[in-house]
Order: sequence, then structure tokens, then C-alpha cells
Amino acid sequence: MRIGILGAGGMADALGTQWARAGHEVMISGRDASASAARAATMTAEAARTRTEMAGAQAGVVGVRAGSWAEAAAFGEVVMVAVRQAGLAGVLASAGGALRGKPVIDVANAEGPYDPARPIAPLIRDLTGGHVVKAFNLCHVDVWRLTPPVFDGRPLAVPLCGDDPAALAAVRTLVADLGCTPVDGGGLDRAMLLEATAAFMIGLWFGGADAQAVLPPMAYSGV
Ligand SMILES: NC(=O)c1ccc[n+]([C@@H]2O[C@H](COP(=O)([O-])OP(=O)(O)OC[C@H]3O[C@@H](n4cnc5c(N)ncnc54)[C@H](OP(=O)(O)O)[C@@H]3O)[C@@H](O)[C@H]2O)c1
Repeated sequence: MRIGILGAGGMADALGTQWARAGHEVMISGRDASASAARAATMTAEAARTRTEMAGAQAGVVGVRAGSWAEAAAFGEVVMVAVRQAGLAGVLASAGGALRGKPVIDVANAEGPYDPARPIAPLIRDLTGGHVVKAFNLCHVDVWRLTPPVFDGRPLAVPLCGDDPAALAAVRTLVADLGCTPVDGGGLDRAMLLEATAAFMIGLWFGGADAQAVLPPMAYSGV
């Protein structure tokens, strides 16, 4: 798959490296072309190193490229938006109309207190005309660097919220490529629940609580 990434920061690096290692073509983008190019080079090296480690000596990897916002948006069959909230509207304006009708992965969390009256996912849908799927926002960037993200023998489950079946299918594949399990989280109208959940869990973690411990095992779910 060709994956365009709007962003050249932590999330772009972590997830883009995983997908390059899995054999996808990746292009990242940021405000500073030389910094993005340097990041793309380290991603390529890391993807090649881990691919060789996991798959054997002959494993090759397609190089990660760097481009402008518009180039990454045009490059991707799937495009991940991984920019900070402050830059979101400007970056999406620079990306132009290239995202219209494409699967668009939204990983964003709110900076500052979460405002349920201003959910991020539908804003990205409205600004891009893309088929937005909210995913990957519940875990810290370092989780997305793990090969694979498996805890106590259980692959991490990644909830997806989106409306378009083809976009959801593409993102499910990308979740599985990390060694994680995709979970159907419902339509894009439920993406705000993922955003609020992240805000709540981050608050618990910062308060020193074990947020993972707040939910009982399935047998006690009441279902
Ligand atoms: N970090 C996490 O643990 C984590 C976890 C889950 C979700 N997320 C979400 O993922 C998204 C990206 O986070 P990240 O950790 O990758 O952030 P980051 O490392 O700070 O990277 C932010 C990216 O946004 C770009 N950007 C464009 N306009 C900007 C502006 N006005 N101000 C700041 N940055 C701007 C930056 O461009 P340059 O490359 O030119 O600097 C950079 O590529 C955010 O929505 C965040 O909520 C993060």
C-alpha cells in the first residue's frame, strides 16, 4: 500500500517505520524539508534493521520518502494525519483536495482539556472530504514502536471508528501489520468517544493510576 503521512514527528516515525518494515511505501511530510528527509532516512534504516531481525538476513525494505504536505497527500492511497492540533487546519489546507475520497487515518488527541462540542475526527472529515477512520489515539507513541505491541501474551486491540467499509478494511490491514488486533468501534459519530476516552485515560496515567486496571475481564462485562 502507498501510505502518505501528514507529519514527521513521533507518531509519523513510529507507525510509518512499522509500515515500511511490513513492506508498504511510506512518504512523510513536515514543515522543514531537510528535517523530514533526515527523519525519513532514520525510519528507513530502522525499518530495514528490524525487518532483517524479524524476517531473516535477506529481507529488504522500501525506502521511506519525504515530501511536502501536498506531495504526501497525493502519494498516499491511504493518508494518516499526524500533526498537532495547532497545525491541523493549516496543514490540511496545504494538502489541498488530494484527500477527497481517500481513506484518512486520524490519530489526533486534543491538546489541553477535551471539548466534546469540538470533536476532531468530523473536523478532519469536513476539511478533507476523506473517508476518516479514527485509530491509534489511545496509546502513547512508544507503544507504536514495539515489535509487536503485545502485553501479557495478548496483542494490543486497536479500536477503529469510521463509516466507509473500504477505508476501514485498509486500516484493519495496517493494524494487523503491527501485530495488533483491529476492533470495530462503530461509525465516525463514535470517534468522539475515542477522543474522550484518551483524554480520560491520559488523566489517570498522569495521576499515577494504572488505567488498564479500570476495566474488568470480559467474563465480568455483563454481556
Ligand atoms: N505522542 C503521542 O504519544 C501520541 C499518542 C497518540 C496520538 N497522538 C496524536 O498524534 C498527533 C501527532 O503527535 P506527535 O506525537 O507525532 O507530535 P510531534 O512529534 O510533535 O509531531 C507533530 C507534527 O505536527 C507538525 N505540525 C504542523 N504544524 C504544526 C504546528 N503549528 N505546531 C506543531 N506541530 C505542527 C510537525 O511538523 P514539523 O515536523 O515540521 O515539526 C510534526 O510533523 C497529535 O494529534 C497527537 O495528539 C500522539
